[in-house]
Formats: sequence, structure tokens, C-alpha cells
Amino acid sequence: MHRSERLQRPDPASDDPDNPEPDLDPTWLASVRRALLDWYDREGRADLPWRRDRDPFKVLVSEVMLVQTTVAAAGPFFERFLSRFPTPNALASADEADVLKAWEGLGYYRRARLLQQAARVIVEQHDGQVPGDPEALRRLPGVGRYIAGAVASIAFDLPEPILEANSQRVLARWLRWTEDLRSTNSQARLWKAAARIVPPNHPGRFNQAIMDLGATVCTPRSPRCLACPVADSCLARREGMQDELPKRSAPIPPLEVAETCVLAVDDQGRFLVVQRAAGRLWEGFWEFPTVHQSGVDPAGRGSAVGLVDPLDLRFRHLTGISLALGEPLHTIRYAVTKHRVTLSAMAAAPLGGAPTPGPGLSAVEWRSIADLDPLPRTGATRRLSLWASSHPEAFPPPGPGKPA
Ligand code: ADE
Repeated sequence: MHRSERLQRPDPASDDPDNPEPDLDPTWLASVRRALLDWYDREGRADLPWRRDRDPFKVLVSEVMLVQTTVAAAGPFFERFLSRFPTPNALASADEADVLKAWEGLGYYRRARLLQQAARVIVEQHDGQVPGDPEALRRLPGVGRYIAGAVASIAFDLPEPILEANSQRVLARWLRWTEDLRSTNSQARLWKAAARIVPPNHPGRFNQAIMDLGATVCTPRSPRCLACPVADSCLARREGMQDELPKRSAPIPPLEVAETCVLAVDDQGRFLVVQRAAGRLWEGFWEFPTVHQSGVDPAGRGSAVGLVDPLDLRFRHLTGISLALGEPLHTIRYAVTKHRVTLSAMAAAPLGGAPTPGPGLSAVEWRSIADLDPLPRTGATRRLSLWASSHPEAFPPPGPGKPA
């Protein structure tokens, strides 16, 4: 019998939640596990900063960072974060603003807040030690099945499965899975397959190996099957389907959004900045006063003053300051979740009024560019601050005839 016939795949048409686990042939399992672990010894990315030891807290922090950040980008942030907050205790007792500052640049700041809450639970309920039990891990704020599986297997050597973008692509090819991987049903069955495949010995190394294989060999496009240790056992490869799998549905086009902000400078050269209120995207972050102009507003900037009102009225409502609006100065593009935002900054000079936070804001202040540095800011705001500090000519001191 051909080996692929013995490898029974789950029935793609079945919606049965009690679907039996994929019945993986023991010989196939043994050879895949051995080949992958041997490959990991030779080719694994042993130099990644979070792999230097298996301290459970470091593993937890790295996995939270890696949920939405690439391995290459996460490295420097990981080192900096751990040197500031080396233990659950240090993170639990830190000021939230310092945690957000250390997370700055990684985006998805909710992850940082949840990680700090998780550290507090670890301190209060687990004597400051990250628990190894997968159920206890999953009760930590922000920890789902993937992170719990990664920490339990990598730091505690428990045979817990993981499933993330790289490993699910690898599994889909090994098993020649032709379903859309995004459906809840296929996710449930992929988890079952991952649970069957993770070995009792060296589960942490195996899980890291499957992620590394996906990142470096079994890549989304043009997988390098000639360099793959598992090529002989891969059902997609046997049938020449590796380039077609996993099946991809057409990407959803991003939503275009336009926003306008003011780089308003007072007579001491300070910029008007606002802090975003609780319960909104970028809670607690500082930015230049910004209004939403068109498209679906990703940041909850809605206000009682509508889109049709004059811009200066909208900024007054937002900040309490009357502004004389000037020229467009600079435009940047940035992405947030499924939105692509065009943010145009315009010059402005204050005419009067007292800083008063409007809808969605908790503070309004005048700050020099240097004094913005310690505040948590989004990537877009940091880019605009940098632009402003390198273009002093755009902000001349008030002279005769100019509003002060
Ligand atoms: N992606 C998510 N977690 C990872 C890990 N521990 N190693 C490599 N890539 C990853």
C-alpha cells in the first residue's frame, strides 16, 4: 500500500465537532519527528535571543511579542523589554506608561497591557513563577491556546501542540490538506493533528523546529523542498501540490482612511499634543490632535462635531484651543489592523483658549519636541515628531502680523 493511502486525512466535508483525530501512521510519525529534530539540531535558528535559555518568563514574553511581530523585528525589542522587566515581579510592579514605552514600536499595545496583567496574576496566584500547567497558563490574561502550548512545550517540555501561521502551513502540506485553513472546522482539526504529531520527547524543540521549517524552508511561496528534511514524507510534495497548498482565499483589500492632524506651535516653540482616553485604540498614547476625514474610522475619533463642520471648529472642540490653520506640511501613510491610513499634517498657530480634552481624550498639553520623548507615542506620531524636529524652518517664531 502507498504510504499516503495509509495516512488517513480528516473528512473535509464533515462538520462533526466530534470528528476523530487524524489517524496518523506510526511509522510516518516516527520518521517525520526524527527527521525534523535532526534538522533542527543542524539548521534551527539557535541564535534567536529568546532561545538562549528556557526561562519560562522569557519564553512567555517572546511568544506574546511574536503573535503579531516577525522574528527579525522582535529581537531588539525582546532584549530591551527583558532588561527593563526581567521577572514577572518587575513587570507586575511597573508603571503602565513605562511598560507601554518599552513596547513602543511593536504595535498592538493591548498585548503589552495584557502581559502586565498576566504578570500580576503570576505574582498573586503563582508565587511569581510562570506556571507550567497548560490550563493555568490559559487562565492568564492574553494567553490563548497557542501561547499556552508554546510556553508549556518550550519552557516545560510538555507535549503540548502549537499552531501558528508557519506550522499550520507545514502541517497542511504534510497532510495535503485542501481545505481553507481559516474555517473554524479546519482550525479545530489542525489542532488535533498538531496534538497527534508533537512527540513525547523534545516537544519544545519539535515545536520550534516546525516553526523554523515554515519560516526558512516550507515558505508560503516557492517552498524549498530540496532542502526539506521531511520532503519524502510530505503528501503535498508527493503529489506535486506543494505550491498550491494551503489554499488561499483572495485577500481582502485594505480599508482606506484619511485623517488630518495639526502641528500647532505656541510662541515658546511648543507643540500641542493630546493623550487618548481609556477604552479606545492606543489608550494612554500621545499624538498631535487628529481628526478623522473619510473612510471607516479605525481609532474611534468620532465626536459630537461632525465631519461636515469646518476643521478649525473640530480642532477647537477636540482641544479647547482656537487655531489659525495654515499650510499642509507633510503626509505619511501607516497601517492599523485592516486599515491603510493617510495622515496629513497641517501647520497651525494658536489664537487663544485653554487646553481642554475633548471627546476620546484625557489630556491636552503644550510640549517641546524633546519633552515628547518620554511619552508613549504611536509609530505615526514618532515619525511626525521626527519630521517636525528636522524641519525647524516649517515652524518660524511668531513675527509681526502673525497670530501668536
Ligand atoms: N514564532 C512564534 N514563536 C516562535 C518561536 N518560538 N520561534 C520561532 N518563531 C516563532
